[in-house]
Amino acid sequence: MKKIKIGIVGAGFAAGFHYEAYLNVNRIEVEVVGSYSRNSAKRIAFAEERNIVAFDSFAAMLERVDVIDICVPGYAHENYAVIAAEHGKHIIIEKPYTGYYGPPNADDSWRGDKADKNEMLTQAMASVKRIANAVSANEVKLMYAENWVYAPAIQKEVEVLRATKGQILWMQGEESHSGSHSPAYGVWREAGGGSVVGKGCHPLSAALYLKRVEAIARGIEPIRPQSVNARVHRLTGIADYQDEGHLRTDYLDVEDFCQLHITFTDGTVADIFSSEIVMGGVHNWLEIFANNHRYRANINPNDCGTLYNPVEEQLKDVYIAEKLGSKQGWSFPSPNEDWMTGYPQEIQDFMECIDSDREPQSDIMLAADTVAVMYAAYLSDQNEGRTTDVPLI
Ligand SMILES: NC(=O)c1ccc[n+]([C@@H]2O[C@H](COP(=O)([O-])OP(=O)(O)OC[C@H]3O[C@@H](n4cnc5c(N)ncnc54)[C@H](O)[C@@H]3O)[C@@H](O)[C@H]2O)c1
Repeated sequence: MKKIKIGIVGAGFAAGFHYEAYLNVNRIEVEVVGSYSRNSAKRIAFAEERNIVAFDSFAAMLERVDVIDICVPGYAHENYAVIAAEHGKHIIIEKPYTGYYGPPNADDSWRGDKADKNEMLTQAMASVKRIANAVSANEVKLMYAENWVYAPAIQKEVEVLRATKGQILWMQGEESHSGSHSPAYGVWREAGGGSVVGKGCHPLSAALYLKRVEAIARGIEPIRPQSVNARVHRLTGIADYQDEGHLRTDYLDVEDFCQLHITFTDGTVADIFSSEIVMGGVHNWLEIFANNHRYRANINPNDCGTLYNPVEEQLKDVYIAEKLGSKQGWSFPSPNEDWMTGYPQEIQDFMECIDSDREPQSDIMLAADTVAVMYAAYLSDQNEGRTTDVPLI
């Protein structure tokens, strides 16, 4: 068994939790050789803290690794993925897989929320195809880092579906919190959109994945998304918004709320919500209503532990849960938040895929369908929620 060598692009939040996941890979020898990020101070600090190489160019990192793990904002995903494929490297891409980031040389005056969503959908799907072509031409693996697929609460539904051969009739889910920490978030040219692509992508991919699992369990044709009706809003940007400082509000040109209604090729449906206006910690859940069972996946929070803390200060050094805001009063401390979120299981699956030459649970098709639904959703919103076909490749 050959050691798998990893190079991480990016030195921020996602690069950090990917790095932790590599440290916990079982049965396969893995080494994170180093990281490359465009901000030299950040990449040096990131690398020094972990005793890995701070590469001063992407090209230098490419030469030394087997896998490129892309943990930078969405606008740079396609470029790094295509170059990595052309150099015969396997690729891991964080969400959002890819999308539309404005016309070439778009400057500060370009506004994604005002741009034509027909063109966006066309261009986003062209980007999906360019990555797919590079991957297949160079026979490398593309692994889509959608952690919800690997979250234990979602994998339990996979087990239930396989046992019951249930037919999922409706799913309802959400990923929300009080606003991303990333400076790129809020600028369409860097992030490719707002709540839809930044957060809604997670429950959306999980819903698409479970319909795929259902079809395999029932031995029927693949079930894929067919159409979407969607609305997006900028609630913290309304004229009369009363800002009391609890929510992030500094978005340039993206939405902070979305609602997507998806109809699948078998006629069943899913409703996905996502927003930046939810206080009290990350709010990540998916509920499944099937013909023979009902299941609720509570990814975060979940009540594995329930804590009452009368004094904020006494827990200042104790981690409770992502984006909680306050540690006083009742809370749900997560004993292992990364595990509940699916981060280590995701990287384990990817390493096993490379080691044993198989495809991941979260694959290129799931990534492509997710992009197709998200940008069809923006087009639907442009037409005030009209039913919009999802272009499938
Ligand atoms: N799966 C999840 O739960 C999850 C959580 C957070 C972020 N993400 C995704 O991870 C990616 C990174 O987000 P983040 O939160 O780590 O952002 P971040 O702002 O914390 O870090 C981004 C890093 O990328 C670097 N960077 C930006 N543009 C670059 C470029 N063109 N070339 C090289 N480096 C560049 C920055 O210098 C920084 O080091 C995004 O796609 C985001 O959607 C996923």
